[in-house]
Amino acid sequence: MTNGKALPADYNLTPTNKYTSRNREIADFTHSKEDANIDMDVVKSFGEEWNKFHEFSKKTIDLICREYFDIIDESIVNKDTYMIDIGCGSGRWSEYFLDKAAFIEAVDPSDAVFAADKLLGKSDKLRITRASINTLPWPDETFDFGMSVGVLHHIPDTRLALEECVKKIKKGGHFYVYIYYKLDNRGILFKSLFYCSDIIRRVVSKMPSFLKKGICDILAVVAYMPFILLSRLLKWVGLKKLSQMLPLSAYANKSFYVIRNDSLDRFGTKLEHRFTKAEIESMMKEAGLTNIRFGNDSAFWHAVGQRS
Ligand SMILES: C[S@@+](CC[C@H](N)C(=O)[O-])C[C@H]1O[C@@H](n2cnc3c(N)ncnc32)[C@H](O)[C@@H]1O
Repeated sequence: MTNGKALPADYNLTPTNKYTSRNREIADFTHSKEDANIDMDVVKSFGEEWNKFHEFSKKTIDLICREYFDIIDESIVNKDTYMIDIGCGSGRWSEYFLDKAAFIEAVDPSDAVFAADKLLGKSDKLRITRASINTLPWPDETFDFGMSVGVLHHIPDTRLALEECVKKIKKGGHFYVYIYYKLDNRGILFKSLFYCSDIIRRVVSKMPSFLKKGICDILAVVAYMPFILLSRLLKWVGLKKLSQMLPLSAYANKSFYVIRNDSLDRFGTKLEHRFTKAEIESMMKEAGLTNIRFGNDSAFWHAVGQRS
């Protein structure tokens, strides 16, 4: 709860830079403190990715958010909630919560902040800040709700990063994560396909930016679309359960734009860690979260916990 306090909270660090973007001023804290838990190549690559892909319609955002945030209800995010989106990228999930929360701090260490500024437009309920998990310019226990969606697995030490994030949440507040799964709920065939695709990722992610973007577009067609089309076909003929067993079936209802974006996200990123559900639960507990709940459906794994 905001307890009637004026929002947003003041920064407690001095920015090292300030940008005048299209809709707002953006303060930069990325160099305000030493930060050992960040991979700058990964951050640069994400800055490029989100400046290429930031035109998501409300319909697209809502469709994906129904899957990601099925475990978030009004008892967690409501009109009194002061929240932070850590590693916001294009800002698409902040956009989803804009009319649900009291105020949102959207934070990213990359050039994605400029893409987020475009997607999120002018709003007096949101501030964009350039910072990493280790340079978040707010005191501990500031937020009612925090989320880090698809971020922590791209950080050298995921466990440490999660601890830093949870420190910013008030006692009794909630923290949500989506962290890549180790395919712990999948069979051998699925896992084998994944390991082949991972070899491709290791090669593609090291390529120069223009080549990487082109190859990821090709992969969207040749690696994603065959599975997605088969999944759509099986669903169309009434074999919904079977269609859901296919790799990439979660994209069956997504646009080609989202598929291209995710192909670049997946194959274009040099550093990714993967965790089992049990490992994520253990990290969340160690970070000080209780009442941990996992979503049962894709995306795996997404979970929310309460700060004790
Ligand atoms: C896969 S993107 C996810 C973006 C957004 N949450 C989404 O799901 O659309 C990962 C994001 O994490 C950010 N990131 C990488 N390292 C970070 C760090 N140390 N602290 C905060 N964010 C970081 C990247 O800049 C990137 O925008």
